[in-house]
Amino acid sequence: MKLSRLARLTIILAFILGVMGCTGQPISTTTSDIQEKSVKGYEDLIVGFSQLGAESEWRVANTNSIKETAEQLGVELCFFDAQQKQENQVEAIRKLIVQRVDVIGISPIVETGWDEVFQEAKDAGIPIILVDRRADVPEDLYVSYLGSDFLEEGRNAARIMADLMNGQANIVELVGTIGSAPANDRYLGFREILKEYPDMRILASESGDFTRARGKEVMEGFLKKYGNRITAVYSHNDDMSLGAIQAIEEYGLKPGVDIKIVSVDAARGAFEAMIAGKLNATVECNPLLGPQFFELALKVVNGEPYPRWVPSIEGIFFPDNALEILPTRKY
Ligand code: AHR
Repeated sequence: MKLSRLARLTIILAFILGVMGCTGQPISTTTSDIQEKSVKGYEDLIVGFSQLGAESEWRVANTNSIKETAEQLGVELCFFDAQQKQENQVEAIRKLIVQRVDVIGISPIVETGWDEVFQEAKDAGIPIILVDRRADVPEDLYVSYLGSDFLEEGRNAARIMADLMNGQANIVELVGTIGSAPANDRYLGFREILKEYPDMRILASESGDFTRARGKEVMEGFLKKYGNRITAVYSHNDDMSLGAIQAIEEYGLKPGVDIKIVSVDAARGAFEAMIAGKLNATVECNPLLGPQFFELALKVVNGEPYPRWVPSIEGIFFPDNALEILPTRKY
């Protein structure tokens, strides 16, 4: 049988990954090691992580938290950045299965399309932990979810907006990545509360893909179409809010004054904008998940009890004390 060049390369890669750890060190586990070390410590753990990309200030902080915590604890981390592509995340999981890591963490870029590859991990006996974003898969295909309640974030954004606007607004919405859990839930949660306010209307809603550049572009389009009929912006993350602020200023209006803005994440950039009077509130979404992730991973691997959902503890921030709080922010 003649194998194609790609097939030969895949076999060689699978072999190399199978015998070497992420750091390039040979995996030297023997039967007696396994018997002696039935309870693992952090320094025995080999953890795979599939990150979705680096689209925002939030995501960069999340990646740093995972990498720094692994280093502090002495965990061997096999980290893959999917650069916003689901197919890269699927490929990363397959590589991690070949590498026989102890556990796989993943922040799924979108909610759907994971069943097959998660099943492959399950068949290989490798537990999956969802980090930051949920995946729409049967419950038995992952062991736990660590992250925020995105629905509640959307509800809180609407409550703040209603307060800020005295129940009357023409809103434009900057939506996150289409099909992602935070975009889906922040969209739904916001509308759930808005039902109670008949004079708060959504004029338009479009994806800015969680990036500053797209947030600016989409806001420019909204301003072109609706001009100063817009009285409020609901943005699914701070990066898009910062892009929208720029677009509003270039249009000749005052962000935070002529057009009120409610955002999500509570990143440093949002605090700076609040201090400058250009942003009216930000609902926190905590990216610093490294310590909780590895604690959870160790429990899973050692067969200790762990929760199905580890919710993040999060607040809401306003301009009045942003200056005081900024120095305490870690992202
Ligand atoms: O999944 C969390 C979201 O993803 C954050 O709100 C956003 O900034 C990021 O890109």
